[in-house]
Amino acid sequence: MHVRLKMILGVLVLVIAAVIMLPRMLNDKEEEPEQPAAEEPVEVVEEFQEIYLFTTDYLNMRTGPGTENEKVRTIPVGEKVRAIDYEDGWYLIEYNGQTGYSIEDYLSELLEEGEPNPESPEIEAPEETQEEEDTGEIMKTIDGILLVNKTYGLPSDYYPDVNSEAKQWVEQMITNAKDEINKEIIAFSGFRSYNYQKKLYNSSVETDGEEYAQRYSAKPGHSEHQTGLAFDLGGQMKYWLEPEFADTEESVWLAENAHRFGFILRYPEDKENITGYAYEPWHFRYVGEDHAKKIYEEGIALEEYLLGE
Ligand code: DAL
Ligand code: ZN
Repeated sequence: MHVRLKMILGVLVLVIAAVIMLPRMLNDKEEEPEQPAAEEPVEVVEEFQEIYLFTTDYLNMRTGPGTENEKVRTIPVGEKVRAIDYEDGWYLIEYNGQTGYSIEDYLSELLEEGEPNPESPEIEAPEETQEEEDTGEIMKTIDGILLVNKTYGLPSDYYPDVNSEAKQWVEQMITNAKDEINKEIIAFSGFRSYNYQKKLYNSSVETDGEEYAQRYSAKPGHSEHQTGLAFDLGGQMKYWLEPEFADTEESVWLAENAHRFGFILRYPEDKENITGYAYEPWHFRYVGEDHAKKIYEEGIALEEYLLGE
């Protein structure tokens, strides 16, 4: 009897406990706060606005964003490139029909210090984009050829950009060099503005002295590069602007074949007294095929051809 009572009491306690606890347990379950969902990173994909940039130094274009990627080509200093995209310090750029990645450090929205790029949507071009210097230069054209040398110059606001015909022919010449001698030729310097030439000339004076600068660098307003018709050419990174370039296969081929593409070796050896500049085996000037052929065959400088000097 005593044992049965104990069992009944035990069962009763259990039933009461269940009656009290069950709703609470159910409630607890209902009230259990929802586990916060793991926060997903919200990626804000801002669309890159295409802009034009300028190379501030010789710049490698690579197959991917990093120096471990293969080099596609080298872009000369002062060239305009189209930036298509940006990723971690590297721009995806397009230059001369080639596309690749270049590090941001040598790409600038400024053509030169203080000269905003008028084609950049980010920068509003001021009324006057460069300091006007009235050089009083009158352009000299003979037989349809613009003559630029120490005597004849260009106004400081003359800004034709690279000449499209000359560009097309220099590219053709580069293609032919690859086909004919299997060498990569690079046009590492093309069109220059007045201000850029000024910077180059001043820097040459500072580095090498006035006497040297006079022989190798034109004063602003007097460089053929300002016409958009001249290019400095070189091989794969070797002997750029150095006399040793003359001994390379690329240089020999250029000297013998440039006229086929309308170019002349503008500052030949032993013509310094006529052209005013030392031998520059890398500097080629576009004059068109007919003139180039005659100048090549006669072995004369442009001054001799145009002025009979
Ligand atoms: N090096 C040539 C002379 C120039 O500066 O245009
Ligand atoms: Zn040059």
